[in-house]
Amino acid sequence: MIRFSVLGAGHIAGKTAAAAAYLAGRGELALRAVASRDPARGAALAGRFGFETSFGSYRELAEDPATDLVYVATPNTFHAAHAKLCLEHGKHVLCEKPFTANAAEAEEVLALARERGLFCGEAMWLRFLPASRAIGEALRAGRIGKPRMVEAVFEVPVADKARIREPALGGGALLDLGVYPLAFALLHFGTDYADVAGRATLLPTGVDDQAAFSLGWADGRIAALACSATAAGGAGGRIVGTEGSIEVPMLVRCEGFRVAPFGGGAAEDVARPFECNGYEYELRAAARAVEAGRPECPEAPHEATLAAMRAMDALRALWGVRFPCDAAG
Ligand SMILES: NC(=O)c1ccc[n+]([C@@H]2O[C@H](COP(=O)([O-])OP(=O)(O)OC[C@H]3O[C@@H](n4cnc5c(N)ncnc54)[C@H](OP(=O)(O)O)[C@@H]3O)[C@@H](O)[C@H]2O)c1
Repeated sequence: MIRFSVLGAGHIAGKTAAAAAYLAGRGELALRAVASRDPARGAALAGRFGFETSFGSYRELAEDPATDLVYVATPNTFHAAHAKLCLEHGKHVLCEKPFTANAAEAEEVLALARERGLFCGEAMWLRFLPASRAIGEALRAGRIGKPRMVEAVFEVPVADKARIREPALGGGALLDLGVYPLAFALLHFGTDYADVAGRATLLPTGVDDQAAFSLGWADGRIAALACSATAAGGAGGRIVGTEGSIEVPMLVRCEGFRVAPFGGGAAEDVARPFECNGYEYELRAAARAVEAGRPECPEAPHEATLAAMRAMDALRALWGVRFPCDAAG
């Protein structure tokens, strides 16, 4: 059974640990360790969910012979270094979104994983949700005719957090929130977009506070997307076709959607409730990929991660948003 460990014991690590404990209860993986810079915090998280042990440094976890798969849950600009630390020690890696701070880092991490023959993937949980799969099925079945537009927003007032404000932590609304509307568009319209445009306002620290951006595809389909770290609109999306729309009231915690024919036909509500808290699907897919010796999950292939990172690089270049790590990248 895949022995699963967590690197970094912050907010999202707790949610993911809960999902891992759910899967462990079903015999789908084994809970090995939590690593934190603060040994007490690591031990507390490990104890809460029944991990076998905890470590007071990330290096000890990377060197742990009893760990197979590490989930990286540190701030954005540390993802590349922490993923590489684990890969260099022969560990498979599932890394939080955004996969890295820029596309050059993503390419470097994925090249290392390839070289070592290890699984490496982005924990873009939206891609793994049963509702996302059902949306794909509805689109392929022609339920809204020919898809033409995808519209999605994610607006949460989180700009008070250091990891959102600070360029050194890979801050900004785009990498934290905009990455979801972007993933939604790439998931349903494909990674082969032709161009990217957008505008943003910046925080005094120089990272984007909010942004409106769009992607275009060669056949004329368009994505109209937005994110804000100071507005409080929540997250939602819709895909609009020639005969109707798919309405997604919760873009990230998505447990269902509505298929709405244009012109008053009967709408259908489709429900795909979570088994646990929604993070179980990405963990299950990563564990299955490791077991099967696959380098990536079909739900979140490397190509999709790179397409997202390149789009975000292009947008940040337009807005003049730079991280200290960009220069080296
Ligand atoms: N999938 C989702 O739904 C979701 C939701 C929120 C965030 N995220 C992503 O998850 C990552 C972590 O976000 P979070 O909300 O969990 O943040 P957080 O609560 O601040 O936790 C981040 C953890 O990273 C570790 N860390 C290592 N170096 C650090 C440094 N220099 N400064 C701050 N923390 C450092 C710390 O763990 P230790 O001190 O324990 O080692 C810290 O607790 C981000 O990449 C974010 O984009 C994903």
